[in-house]
Amino acid sequence: MGSPRRKRLCLWFLIGLALSVIFLGHYYTADSPVCPGTVARTCQQERWDLEEAGILQDVRNRDLTRRTIMKRGNSTQDASNPKEKARSCPWSLKSKVKHNPTFEKQFDFDIPVFMWEQHFTPETWGRLKDRSVPYGWRDVPYPVIASTVQLLSESVHSQLVDEARFLNCCICCAVVGNGGILNGSRQGKKIDAHDFVFRLNGAVIKGFEEDVGTKTSFYGFTVNTMKNSLVAYAEYGFTQIPQGKDIQYIFIPSNIRDYIMLRSAILGSPVPEGYDKGDSPQKYFGSEASAGKFKLLHPEFMHYLKERFLKSEIINSQFGHLYMPSTGALMLLTALHTCDQVSAYGFITENYRLFSDHYYEQEKKPLVFYANHDMLLEAELWKSLHRVGIMKLYQR
Ligand SMILES: *[C@@H]1O[C@H](CO)[C@@H](O)[C@H](O)[C@H]1NC(C)=O
Ligand SMILES: *[C@@H]1O[C@H](CO)[C@@H](O)[C@H](O)[C@H]1NC(C)=O
Repeated sequence: MGSPRRKRLCLWFLIGLALSVIFLGHYYTADSPVCPGTVARTCQQERWDLEEAGILQDVRNRDLTRRTIMKRGNSTQDASNPKEKARSCPWSLKSKVKHNPTFEKQFDFDIPVFMWEQHFTPETWGRLKDRSVPYGWRDVPYPVIASTVQLLSESVHSQLVDEARFLNCCICCAVVGNGGILNGSRQGKKIDAHDFVFRLNGAVIKGFEEDVGTKTSFYGFTVNTMKNSLVAYAEYGFTQIPQGKDIQYIFIPSNIRDYIMLRSAILGSPVPEGYDKGDSPQKYFGSEASAGKFKLLHPEFMHYLKERFLKSEIINSQFGHLYMPSTGALMLLTALHTCDQVSAYGFITENYRLFSDHYYEQEKKPLVFYANHDMLLEAELWKSLHRVGIMKLYQR
């Protein structure tokens, strides 16, 4: 039993174990000292995969970590923008894009994603005033735009997350659509393991935690889709949109209602005019919603997404003036332009006919195709992005 040889072996084994623990500990702390809160387990998982494949070694040898992976191009007035600083996620989707000739031409990582006060210049007004909503401001009076956008004056309004906190690690995001594919999927833990979770419209959570998780970092909507969801999915328990200290709201400016509601939400006062007149924003966003909880998608970003990624034939039909990418598509493409790694759950797949419209329906309902969206074109896009490894699309 306790022969000296065996004891020695045992000792070596223990020393080896201790060394590997020390090495790994050093490795993780050295590489991700400023990853906030729950360090993304998905990222670590990825790291293991890469390490096993020997890729990580290559990356480390080439010292990519000290290279500027995200360059902000030629903006002189924006020198204080945190994006200016080198971020170092060696396996960012940006490097995948760079090596794909098709997507390399489509993606522009320098385009501003969110509209904020510093973008509200006479030049911007000049460009947007003749373009109709949601891609411009033709249908919205100047005072409404000005009084809303001027409230978006903090850096939190200009970027998804404080990138300075992520200088040495990857920003991993999950975007959760509401597709029936998630019914019985048991993806909840995986979804919650991402640094940030996007949800949208009728995002029913209660009763579906195992399938869709519980974490919400960003909730995206137009006032129209949000209010419709509250009516249409109340029977499934969707009686309020996600609320909480760590949740931020992404307004999609589909028409004047969104600007007016956003302004009222920041000011914490009832909606003074228009379609939603008298509405209390607290009803939707909670009583402690301060300016820092709200972001506004940039109309030019939406225009760019439509032109480069989702240029549907609908645009030339009788519904052309109504066409816009779906809320889910806008959120997923937002994540693809702001996160390092993106997983899409509950989005349309090739075999969508096998699943219900939403994961919370008790009886299977076919997916509804609205005249103002092009879901099949979106399905093609998700499939291609997944195929080339720019994002992960949950499929089954
Ligand atoms: C930056 O902009 C200036 C003036 O518009 C131009 O002359 C210069 O070539 C640009 N530099 C780069 C790196 O694009
Ligand atoms: C969702 O899954 C449950 C359990 O597997 C099943 O009973 C139900 O019919 C499914 N709902 C739809 C709409 O397919």
